[in-house]
Amino acid sequence: MRTNLSCSRLTRFVRAIARSAGVCLTPGTGHASEAEAAFKARCGQCHGARDIRHWGRQHADAAARQAWLDQFLRRHYPPSEAERTLIVDYIQSAIAAARAPR
Ligand code: HEC
Repeated sequence: MRTNLSCSRLTRFVRAIARSAGVCLTPGTGHASEAEAAFKARCGQCHGARDIRHWGRQHADAAARQAWLDQFLRRHYPPSEAERTLIVDYIQSAIAAARAPR
């Protein structure tokens, strides 16, 4: 029996399984990269950062934009409900980050 599986390799393995099961082991960074990955996978072939900035200008109010995106993405290349939440979060945080004073 092999006993030389290092702890960090084991940790990476567990994380990989957790990721593929949609579980987030590192809240914060994990959620953000998962959200970005969901956007890239579902929307990235047609939309990028310029589109996101455009949607931010078109719908300046964050709460109204949230409601608009949530409705719109129920019929526009609709992702699953869990992915829709992630994708809307990603768009919202990208717009918020672009507006934050530097
Ligand atoms: C196969 C290409 C394609 C995919 C995939 C796609 N879209 Fe689009 N999307 C379009 C096109 C084409 C338009 C219309 C272009 C326009 O309005 O300028 C559009 C328009 C939009 C708009 C603007 C709607 C409006 O009324 O102004 C939003 C927001 C949007 N898409 C979000 C998304 C999101 C989020 C995803 C991923 C879940 C996604 N789209 C996936 C092609 C795509």
